[in-house]
Amino acid sequence: MSSLSIATAKEVFDLLRDDLAAIEQEFLKQSNSQVEVITDIAQYLVSGGGKRIRPLLLLLSAKALGSTNHSRIRLGAVVEMLHTATLVHDDIIDEAELRRGRPSSNTTWGNAKCVLAGDWLYMQAFSAALEERNFHVLDLLISLTQQMVEGELLQMQKLGHLINEEEYFDLIYRKTACLFSVSMQLGAAVTNARPEVEATLGEYGRNLGLAFQIVDDVLDLTAAEDVLGKPVASDLREGKATLAVIHALERGTGADREAIRTVLNERSFGTVSHPQILEILERHGSIAYAMDTACAYAEAARLSIADLPVTDAKRALLWVPGFVTSRDR
Ligand code: IPE
Ligand code: IPE
Ligand code: MG
Ligand code: MG
Repeated sequence: MSSLSIATAKEVFDLLRDDLAAIEQEFLKQSNSQVEVITDIAQYLVSGGGKRIRPLLLLLSAKALGSTNHSRIRLGAVVEMLHTATLVHDDIIDEAELRRGRPSSNTTWGNAKCVLAGDWLYMQAFSAALEERNFHVLDLLISLTQQMVEGELLQMQKLGHLINEEEYFDLIYRKTACLFSVSMQLGAAVTNARPEVEATLGEYGRNLGLAFQIVDDVLDLTAAEDVLGKPVASDLREGKATLAVIHALERGTGADREAIRTVLNERSFGTVSHPQILEILERHGSIAYAMDTACAYAEAARLSIADLPVTDAKRALLWVPGFVTSRDR
């Protein structure tokens, strides 16, 4: 690896190639049920791909602390399974028809079967985690799952409402950053790292996860569907005010605020169009504000691990924040 302090994408991929392939195998192995439809849905989900960023973080966290045991592969699969289960339920709740560029599982199998397949995946993840025989690991995973469910429920209660930044950050912490943080903590937990070290890595995950969800919310407003692989402009249609929209609501003229409120209330672009909303956001620099905020959290993530010894894994962890803020899907 180069002597520069930040790795390149190729270096990160070379470093993790074998482990990521092993996690893919483990996930596939865990997707087998005696009930065929569950196996069908689970295998469809595995084959849909995805960025696999949570297992990547877990691996880098473990590697940064010198771990080489099998736990990192098993728990890498566990965090991806939990993530997948939340996506299955999220697409049912959001009535989304597209995920990773393909029909979402609820579109193909219907809501009823997918709720159950999501439940099964959660339990399969916990059953795999149980094999670690490590109460701390279970503790992290149980509070994580509760945070994520609470996040989805809180979000539901706030649909159509004009939330403030504080409420927004609480939601995105629960929905997304908590799993990023736990993925990093698990990498430390399997190396029996000191609590301060685990907390430091968890802090990196929290900052990175906040940046990640802010970018996801910006992409929802600005990306093209064929690139993103999931529905665009869906948050406003679902009644969700995200960071750029909150910014514009606070700075906009009366007419701007009214236009945004109309979309949130009607849950459609029938009266006010998506381009009209984008024009309002651009005029107030709201997209730039959200991206600047994401970049500040990305930088905070880098700073969180300043004291870790220099290793290939640390250089890779310094690369991830830039990947998160410059991604287009
Ligand atoms: C989607 O996560 C859900 C969010 C937290 C925004 P990802 O963007 O990591 O989804 P995949 O796994 O790459 O499809
Ligand atoms: C998803 O948030 C977070 C989860 C924990 C599932 P979103 O609703 O923004 O996720 P996408 O955009 O559908 O992937
Ligand atoms: Mg969604
Ligand atoms: Mg989204």
